[in-house]
Amino acid sequence: MSVQVKEFGKTADGRTVSVYRITNVNGAYVDVLDYGCTLQSICVPDQDGNLVDVCLGYDTVAEYEANDGYLGAFIGRHANRIKEGKFTLNGVDYTLAVNNGPNHLHGGLKGFDKVVWDTSVASDRLLFSYTSPDGEEGYPGTLVLSVIYSFDDNNALTLTYDAVCNKDTVINLTNHCYFNLNGAGTGTVLDQKLQVFADQFTENDADCLPTGKIKDVEGTPFDFRIPKLIGADIKEENQDLINGSGYDHNFVLRGEGMRDACVLSSDKTGIVCTTATTQPGIQIYSANFMTERKGKGGATYNMRDAICLETQHFPDAIHNENFPSAVLKKGEEYHQETKYTFTVSK
Ligand code: GLA
Repeated sequence: MSVQVKEFGKTADGRTVSVYRITNVNGAYVDVLDYGCTLQSICVPDQDGNLVDVCLGYDTVAEYEANDGYLGAFIGRHANRIKEGKFTLNGVDYTLAVNNGPNHLHGGLKGFDKVVWDTSVASDRLLFSYTSPDGEEGYPGTLVLSVIYSFDDNNALTLTYDAVCNKDTVINLTNHCYFNLNGAGTGTVLDQKLQVFADQFTENDADCLPTGKIKDVEGTPFDFRIPKLIGADIKEENQDLINGSGYDHNFVLRGEGMRDACVLSSDKTGIVCTTATTQPGIQIYSANFMTERKGKGGATYNMRDAICLETQHFPDAIHNENFPSAVLKKGEEYHQETKYTFTVSK
C-alpha cells in the first residue's frame, strides 16, 4: 500500500488542490482530491486483470467548480433535499441556503463538496478534517468533522464519517460517486445489473421531495431485490419514475448496522461492486440530470452514463417524523461507514 500526492490545480480563488493516490498490492488505485474529498478515479481490475476506471470525474479543478452534479464529492451537512430550506429544531426556526428550486440540496450553495479539506496521510488511508462554523449555509452549531478514506488489498474502499457539534443540529453525510462498471466514459449503465437489499422506498413528489409515504417495491419498477438490469423498467409509465425522471429515490435498507446495501455488476468487464453501509437508506440516482459534458481524458458523459449509490439518512427527515431522525444532539458522536468492495465475477 502506498500513497502519493501531487498538485492537481488551483481553485478560481487561488486555493491549491492536491490529488492523493492510494495504490494497493494489486496495482489497483483510487485518486482522491482534497477539494470536496472527491473520488476522482477508482481503477480496479476487470475479469482479465486490466485496470478499469469505474468512477466519473474531471481532469481539472475548473471543471469541478464549473459543473453541476457533484461528481465523486463528499456531501454535507445534509445530503439531498430539505423542504424549502427551512426547519424548526428545539422551537428555533432555521433558514438554509436554497439551491434547488424552492428547496435546499446537498448542503447548499457552498456545501462540503466545495471545501478544500485539511488532509493527512497514514499508510493506506487519507484523513480529512474540516470545522464547519456555526451558521454555515444556515445550519446551527459548529460541526467538527473527520472523514477517512481507505483502500485495501482486497480492492475495498471504505469511507468513514465522524462528526460532533456544539449545538443540536441536523446531519446527513454521503458520497456522490458516479459509478460505471464498464468504465467511465463508455456510455450508458442501463445494461448493468443492480440488486438492492430493500423492500421499500420513499415516495417523492415532482420536486424530488419525499411525500412521507413509504411504498413497497413489490410489483413496481423499484423492485431490485433480485438482480435486474438498471434499464429493465426505467422507461415504464410509472408516476414515481416520472417524478424522478428515472431512478432518484431513497431505498429503505433492510436491517441495521454494517450490512450489504446493494450489488452492482457489469457483464462486459465482470466487475462487481458490493456496497455495505451503516446508514438506513440509499439514494439510487441514475444520473437523470447529467447533461452532456466533457469528462476525464476527453470522454463525453451523458444522462444515464453512471449510477450513484448514495448511502444516507432519508431525505428531508426533519419534516417526516416516520423517517429515522437526522438530528444530531449537542456533544453526541455521529458515525457512519460505507464500504465499496470491487471483485470480479469469474
Ligand atoms: C442527488 C439528487 C438528484 C440530483 C443529484 C445531483 O442524487 O437526488 O436529484 O440533485 O443529486 O445532480
